[in-house]
Amino acid sequence: MDDEARVVSPDADAIERSNEAALRPSNLDEFVGQRVVREQLSLVLSAATGRGTPPDHVLLSGPPGLGKTTLAMIIAQELGSTLRLTSGPAIQHAGDLAAILSSLDEGDVLFLDEIHRLARPAEEMLYLAMEDFRVDVVVGKGAGATSIPLSLPPFTVVGATTRAGLLPAPLRDRFGFTGHLDFYEDDELKAIVVRSAGRLGVSIAHDAAHEIASRSRGTPRIANRLLRRVRDWAEVHGNGRADLDAAREALTVYEVDERGLDRLDRAVLKALCTRFAGGPVGLSTLAVTVGEETETVETVAEPFLVREGFMSRTPRGRIATADAWLHLGLTPPADAIGGEAGGRLFD
Ligand SMILES: Nc1ncnc2c1ncn2[C@@H]1O[C@H](COP(=O)(O)OP(=O)(O)OP(=O)(O)O)[C@@H](O)[C@H]1O
Ligand SMILES: [Mg+2]
Repeated sequence: MDDEARVVSPDADAIERSNEAALRPSNLDEFVGQRVVREQLSLVLSAATGRGTPPDHVLLSGPPGLGKTTLAMIIAQELGSTLRLTSGPAIQHAGDLAAILSSLDEGDVLFLDEIHRLARPAEEMLYLAMEDFRVDVVVGKGAGATSIPLSLPPFTVVGATTRAGLLPAPLRDRFGFTGHLDFYEDDELKAIVVRSAGRLGVSIAHDAAHEIASRSRGTPRIANRLLRRVRDWAEVHGNGRADLDAAREALTVYEVDERGLDRLDRAVLKALCTRFAGGPVGLSTLAVTVGEETETVETVAEPFLVREGFMSRTPRGRIATADAWLHLGLTPPADAIGGEAGGRLFD
């Protein structure tokens, strides 16, 4: 299954990214949730503004769809700076990065998305640029090549990564501030849904916003996407108003259940409980049973199921928790782990 085709995928395609632009909060006060990161960042930015110098380089890490790009844009906005956007995969050669760096003006914010995918030579050039505001431009080729040091005006790098663990330590160390974004609480997602509905000109009931929030897997991107599907449903079948009925009906059409599980997630849990008596079972066997690639099950369904406490990874294989059985409307076996009804396997 193509992950981006799923209504609960945390990733976005190009069309969706352009839809998202309209929903992005434009300053820190409008940015919902992530209280700690917001407060810390606010301090970093006000102090820098007070001193009249560009702030430390900022690294934003966390799963897709939680607001890294949004925060990068807010940082530039709050500083009144120009935002320059690029990404690790867009920089094929060190020369590409040199060209970008040498065109920066004082105080610019350089947003480097997916910074963990930067090629090694570009990464080394970035170390120097971040630390000493200097770049060595290589002129000529082969034996006759010479490198000319070029000094850069002070600027701020905002790096974003979904895989902070993949960043080499020397790169990580050059960021003066690191903000880690975490999944959102339902009431925060609800606030985001209400705000987005306002932006989209959709009238939404509070219980409908809550319903969407609770099925959004802690992810604003998914919340905004589900909101658009509910709006569609309300326009086609309802009175255009996103009420609880519209929310429930629309999300039933898209097969997103009360906890945010979709068809694949439920198929995996169901196979685990009914075909393998709750496990343990190997991942590849489980994948074959639901007719998917092993990698799809591992990267698309499993992380959410584990995070929500429906499934557990053990050295002997995957096992279903008591919550998984209950969620499927089944009675958990007495030795199932987790959940109120289950006993404790390891007690
Ligand atoms: N705290 C927030 N408040 C309001 N809206 C938010 C918030 N965080 C994210 N969003 C919305 O969610 C969508 C996705 O956010 P964003 O693009 O910033 O995520 P990301 O972390 O950069 O994801 P990716 O890793 O895929 O690049 C945007 O439409 C954005 O407006
Ligand atoms: Mg992003």
